[in-house]
Amino acid sequence: MNLLFRPLRVIADKFNVLQMGMIASERVFKVLDNEDTTINDGNIETKHLKGKVEFNKVWFAYIEEQYVLKDISFTLKAGETLAIVGHTGSGKTSIISLLNRLYHINKGSIRIDETNIEDFRLDDLRANIAVVLQDVFLFSGSVKDNVTLRNPDIKDEEVERAAKMIGIHDFILQLPGGYDYNVMERGATLSLGQRQLLSFVRALLYDPAILILDEATSSVDTESEALIQHAIDKLIANRTSIVIAHRLSTIRKANKIMVLDKGEIKEIGSHDELLEKQGFYYQLHKMQFEKQGNLA
Ligand SMILES: Nc1ncnc2c1ncn2[C@@H]1O[C@H](COP(=O)(O)OP(=O)(O)OP(=O)(O)O)[C@@H](O)[C@H]1O
Ligand SMILES: [Mg+2]
Repeated sequence: MNLLFRPLRVIADKFNVLQMGMIASERVFKVLDNEDTTINDGNIETKHLKGKVEFNKVWFAYIEEQYVLKDISFTLKAGETLAIVGHTGSGKTSIISLLNRLYHINKGSIRIDETNIEDFRLDDLRANIAVVLQDVFLFSGSVKDNVTLRNPDIKDEEVERAAKMIGIHDFILQLPGGYDYNVMERGATLSLGQRQLLSFVRALLYDPAILILDEATSSVDTESEALIQHAIDKLIANRTSIVIAHRLSTIRKANKIMVLDKGEIKEIGSHDELLEKQGFYYQLHKMQFEKQGNLA
């Protein structure tokens, strides 16, 4: 992984960091130093994490004693995918915020590759984690700028290879100027789906050990939908991935599915295991998936 990202000086408050559809890296974001933000640094330097993730009896409250995550435990081996499903407010985003060390946990521990995340240098930790969000953040600049984040070390061939893997290369070539097309030009008409695909190219180029994906719920056209599903498969292959998942196709393929409810894990297991159990996931699946193919 390349560690020479030029900072973009994007200023975001600590909540918006995860809402901007951008990769949450200290090199990309300037996280403001709010008093309750966890910024104290560990001293373990690490360039390349493998990506084993372990939550061990994690309790967390934004406001004293009002726990929004209660006794959360799970382990992901390097390369595995976890799909988190749960209603609004169940704690999905909080789990990924904790992995990025945006907050201190109250009890328990979070480990990556057997090291407590509080012991890592924050920069190093975040350089290994990419967050891809629903609302894709594009800035005024070319397609290439937007996917490389103006990192001059990323070669054109790498950009093209990543765009081909994601399945958006042909589309980019059709734009006036191709990879030099300014995505914010007046009249620029990139669809939601195309913007998402660009954010996937960005994440693929970043090549993080751990990928966090907040799958968009908004519907895109059928053609984009097929492309996006294919692209998500490419993106999560061979890396630890945590997906706040809405697509049945993503959920089904995950190694583990976590059903979260009011901060508690109701169930965790594979698609087949959970269906067999005929519990919460089975009910969700029956009620929502069969009706609309998506869990909104
Ligand atoms: N910054 C915050 N300060 C105080 N409470 C918060 C904050 N962020 C989230 N919460 C609360 O924590 C709980 C879990 O929120 P979280 O955002 O993790 O849920 P979620 O599962 O991601 O929901 P959604 O599906 O709507 O994105 C909710 O009760 C929410 O109101
Ligand atoms: Mg959320």
